[in-house]
Amino acid sequence: MNARKVAVKGVTLACEVQGAGVPMVFLHGFPFHHEMWRAQIEALAHEFWVIAPDFRGFGKSQITEDDVSAGVGMDQLAADVVAILDELGVTVPIVLVGFSMGGYAAFQLALRWPERLRGLILCDTRAAADADQARTGRLKMAEEALTKCDASPAEAMLPKLLAPITFEDRPDVADKVRSFIKSASPEAVAAAQRGMAKREDVRGRLSEIVCPALGVVGEADAISPPAEMREIVAALPHARIVEIAGAGHTAPLENPSAVTAAIADFARLL
Ligand code: MLT
Repeated sequence: MNARKVAVKGVTLACEVQGAGVPMVFLHGFPFHHEMWRAQIEALAHEFWVIAPDFRGFGKSQITEDDVSAGVGMDQLAADVVAILDELGVTVPIVLVGFSMGGYAAFQLALRWPERLRGLILCDTRAAADADQARTGRLKMAEEALTKCDASPAEAMLPKLLAPITFEDRPDVADKVRSFIKSASPEAVAAAQRGMAKREDVRGRLSEIVCPALGVVGEADAISPPAEMREIVAALPHARIVEIAGAGHTAPLENPSAVTAAIADFARLL
């Protein structure tokens, strides 16, 4: 494992870098950090140059007071990833894998820096912006996390993060997700929720993303359901979908081998 720290616009961002070959960049979701990709990192670093950053405030990455008060936009997350690639000397196009919030950032990267992409993998994510009620809920969660000085308000998401079968058969996975939530900082929770609340609806722009793409979605995803991923894939010019059995929203943790295989099969053909 190679833990790197990269200075980017006033903050230091943490990043795991492993392997060699075509760069494959993993973007985590909320309220996770890069460790959520552990199974995929270990399996794919034998074939690819794996780069897995922690977004601002998550894992070992820093965050600024302005980030917390204004919220970190998905465009900012994408710009941070590009800055990390530049710092690491990545000049060739990457395979970008974005899970949920990481997928929102991946859309922004694909739209703003299309030349940096060799292929795009969208995992359990959405192209739509929030409805008003969801937006209000996010802003409330941000306030509560800062008031309570912990990430406990994010625990309300837990029932939707995993499939019912995962709670029944894989209590270890549920415990792992609980510990991700517990370890998140209130500042990161607030900044990410405020940032996601103001994210762009990119459904009308999907035809601009012309690189090969893959949609990966847990068959029981209750946050970004398969029907929505099918619509995304239908609107992308060169995309196909893989639905992951026995998984809900957090498919990379619930069925890691199937997600790893889907990523590898797609990336090997690029
Ligand atoms: C995530 O897993 O990143 C979140 O579910 C994203 C969201 O809250 O929309």
